[in-house]
Amino acid sequence: METIVKKVDSENPQQEIIKEAAELIRGGWPVAFPTETVYGLGADAMRADAARRIYEAKGRPSDNPLIIHIADMAALEQIVSEVPEQAKQLAEAFWPGPLTMILPKAPEVPYETTGGLDTVAVRMPSHPVAAAVIRAGGGFIAAPSANASGRPSPTLAEHVYEDLAGRIPLILDGGEVGLGIESTIVDLSVPVPVVLRPGSITREMLSEVIGEIALDPGITGSDENVRPKAPGMKYRHYAPKAELILVSGENGKVVDRINELVRAQSHCGVICCDETKDCYRAEFIKSIGSREHTDRIAHNLYAVLREFDALSVDRIYSETFETSGVGEAVMNRLLKAAGYHILSVGNPIQERRDEDV
Ligand code: TXA
Ligand code: MG
Repeated sequence: METIVKKVDSENPQQEIIKEAAELIRGGWPVAFPTETVYGLGADAMRADAARRIYEAKGRPSDNPLIIHIADMAALEQIVSEVPEQAKQLAEAFWPGPLTMILPKAPEVPYETTGGLDTVAVRMPSHPVAAAVIRAGGGFIAAPSANASGRPSPTLAEHVYEDLAGRIPLILDGGEVGLGIESTIVDLSVPVPVVLRPGSITREMLSEVIGEIALDPGITGSDENVRPKAPGMKYRHYAPKAELILVSGENGKVVDRINELVRAQSHCGVICCDETKDCYRAEFIKSIGSREHTDRIAHNLYAVLREFDALSVDRIYSETFETSGVGEAVMNRLLKAAGYHILSVGNPIQERRDEDV
């Protein structure tokens, strides 16, 4: 299949381009388009065959449910069995925007879209291209991130092309996305709402609106026996081709330790920040931004992981980042990309991992 890439105005999307995307979607095909978080691969959420084509294009396991993207509140009532008060409050505060809510599904939503679950994930994106595609495409667009399964989420149309060329008919290129990290997922189908995936809408922001809110213990990876509740969070997602190892501890000690590790091996890369990038001596050194701007770090993370894939490095050492605010999402993604492999400088037990790296 030939994959066509069309540049689209991200503020005022051209009507004829949106129409072309909508026709493909109405024919049951998936189309890639920008959202404010990452690029999505969208198809008609109410058609089982369309959902299957998404799984096929991404090479994604079909038990991993999709998020339904909507463009107005009336659409929400059609795909969930009830809209709890808390969902209304969160929608009022954060939609359109980077928040996904899990709610009990309506019978009309096919199990192919929800990966066999009786709940459904719903999000109303704010990106003008996404909103236009949803409206023109029938109002209910199932859209996972537009990467091949297991690869970092795409923040540029070029990333989508890299992964899915030949597998989907159309990519709408609206340039670089704004946030760079996937939406926050909050489960409202349980008595106390739970964050299943951290994102730009932080736990503090959510609890200001609805009060008590928990964090799924499965996503911190601290206990191997606790499985994440969002099926997608259990896979080794966002994985770079090289082995990624996080090094945490006091700033100066981390730099020294990484330099030591890099000196002892060849084909190594370093992921660091603007503040420390001149302190390293390695073949490839990439800063993901200043520690003063965690939102920029979130924005650059996936692109940097992809840049390393194009280089011949066997191992990447990365600094770790503060877990406050959106930093919680950054560290969640980095830990997953590293398969939870973390060296703590100054902790003798953890440091023994060095011998087998
Ligand atoms: O920002 C985003 O959310 C992007 C853009 C394109 O909107 N989409 C995205 O979709 O990240 P995806 O498929 O890559 O991630 C969806 C996550 C997966 O971890 C999946 O398991 C979880 O949401 N999920 C979907 N439906 C669920 C449900 N009913 N219960 C629990 N988790 C669910
Ligand atoms: Mg994804």
